Amino acid sequence: MKYPIEPFKIKTIQKIQRKSASERENILTNAKYNVFKIASEDVYIDLLTDSGTGAMSADQWSAIMMGDESYAGATSFFRLKKVVDEIFQFQYFVPTHQGRAAEHILNEVLVEPGHYIPSNTHFDTTEANIRACGGNPVNLPEARKSTSSPFGGNIDLEKLSRFINDVGAYNIPYGMLTITNNGAGGLPVSLDNIRGASEIYRSNEIPFFIDACRYAENSYFIKKHDERYQSQTVEEISKEVFSCCDGITMSGKKDGLVNIGGFLAVNDSELFTKIKNIAVLREGFPTYGGLSGRDLDAMAVGLKEGIEEDYLEYRTSQTAYLGEGLREIGVPVLQPFGGHAVYVDSAAMFPHIPVEDFPGITLSSALYLAGGIRSVELGSVAFAHFDEALQKIVRPPLELVRLALPRRTYTQAHLDFVVRTFGEVLENVETYKGYEITWSPEHLRHFTAEFKSKL
Ligand code: F0G
Repeated sequence: MKYPIEPFKIKTIQKIQRKSASERENILTNAKYNVFKIASEDVYIDLLTDSGTGAMSADQWSAIMMGDESYAGATSFFRLKKVVDEIFQFQYFVPTHQGRAAEHILNEVLVEPGHYIPSNTHFDTTEANIRACGGNPVNLPEARKSTSSPFGGNIDLEKLSRFINDVGAYNIPYGMLTITNNGAGGLPVSLDNIRGASEIYRSNEIPFFIDACRYAENSYFIKKHDERYQSQTVEEISKEVFSCCDGITMSGKKDGLVNIGGFLAVNDSELFTKIKNIAVLREGFPTYGGLSGRDLDAMAVGLKEGIEEDYLEYRTSQTAYLGEGLREIGVPVLQPFGGHAVYVDSAAMFPHIPVEDFPGITLSSALYLAGGIRSVELGSVAFAHFDEALQKIVRPPLELVRLALPRRTYTQAHLDFVVRTFGEVLENVETYKGYEITWSPEHLRHFTAEFKSKL
C-alpha cells in the first residue's frame, strides 16, 4: 500500500530521542509495566491516544494571537459560534474544556437513578458520567456480519427497539450514538443506521444525542463507502448526520484539531437553560465554558481544517497504511481499519498467554522494550469487571491493544519503524510471558494499575 502524501509541510518540530535498550528496561520496570506511568520524554513514538496530541496549523497558531480574553461576550466566542452554527446547525451551544465535561453537564441535567442510556458503544468517560448520576449505560453494537462491511460501528436497530420496549421509553432520558465507534475499532456508523436510530428514538419521544468527536472521519467514510453520497461534501454529509439528532457532545481534541476544548450543542431552549445553569457552575460563563479565548479561536479554525477532504483522505489512508503494514507481516489486526487507530488482537498474537495473564500488557510492554513505542491496552485490564449478578469476572470479547495516531504528527518513516518493531517482537513471540497485577485502584484501573512479569 502506498503512503499518502501529507497535504502540508512541517513548520515546527519537537525533538524525539530513543532511549537505549537498557534505559527502556529500567524505565518500564520503574513504571511497573504500566505505560501510562512513563514520562513522555522517555517515549519514542507515542501512540497512546489521538486526543489532544495532534499538531496545530500555522493558521491556528495565528488565531491564538487573536484570542479575546474578555469574561463575557468575547469576540473569540462569536468566531467559534459562526463555525459551530455553520457545520453543526444546532440552535444553542456552550463551550466546555473537553468532551467529558459536555457529557458531565448533559448527564447531570437529564439522568436520574435507574435510568438507561442506550448507544452503539459508549466511550469509557461517557459510561462513567452516566453511572455517576445513577444511570445505566447500555451498549447495543451491531454484530459484525462480515469484515468486508465498512460500517462496523453501527448500533443494532432491532435490539434498540426491543430494549426500549422492555425498559420503557419513560426510563430513557436520552439515547446516544458514538461516531466513529471508538469501542469498535474506530469504525464508522452508516447514515442509514444513524437515520434508523433517529427514527426509533424520535418515535418513542426520546431525545437523541450523538457523541460527535470523530464525526468528520465518520462523514468521510460515508462519502467513501456509500455510493449515494460520493458527490456530496463531507460538510454536507455532516449536516445531514446532525439533522437526525437533537444535540451533540463534542471533544474538540479529536476532529476539532485542538489540544484542548469541546462543546455541548442542543436545539431545545428549555434544556439549554438547564445546561447553561450547570455550565456556569462547573465550567464557566457560557461564552467561554472551560476555555480561554485563544482556545476558542484555535478550535474555530481547527473545526474548519478538520473537514477538509484532502486532509481526511490523508488521515484515513495513513491509518490504513499502518494497519496494512502490520497485517502483511502477520500481526493480527482488526479489519477493516478505522479512522484514528489500528487495533491489535493481542490474545491472537500471543496464543500461549491466557487472557488471565493479560496478553495486552505483554504486547504494550514488548513494544516499549523493543522500540520505545507507547500503545494502550484495551482488554481485560481496562474492561474486565466482577459481575455481582453472575458472580463471575466478565471480560471484553477481545484483548485489544490500540495504536492511536495523533493528527498531522508522525511520518511514513515513523510508521515503518512501528511495523519493524512489531516484526522484531513476532520473531521471538514464544519467549514472551504474561503479567500479573500487583496493585490496582477501584475505578478505571488501566490508568494506574501495577504489574509484575510472570517470568
Ligand atoms: N467520546 C469518545 C468517543 C472519545 O473517544 C473520548 C476520548 C471522549 C468522548 C471524551 O473526550 O477526552 O475530550 O474528554 N477519547 C480519548 C481516547 C481519551 O484516547 O480515545 P475528552
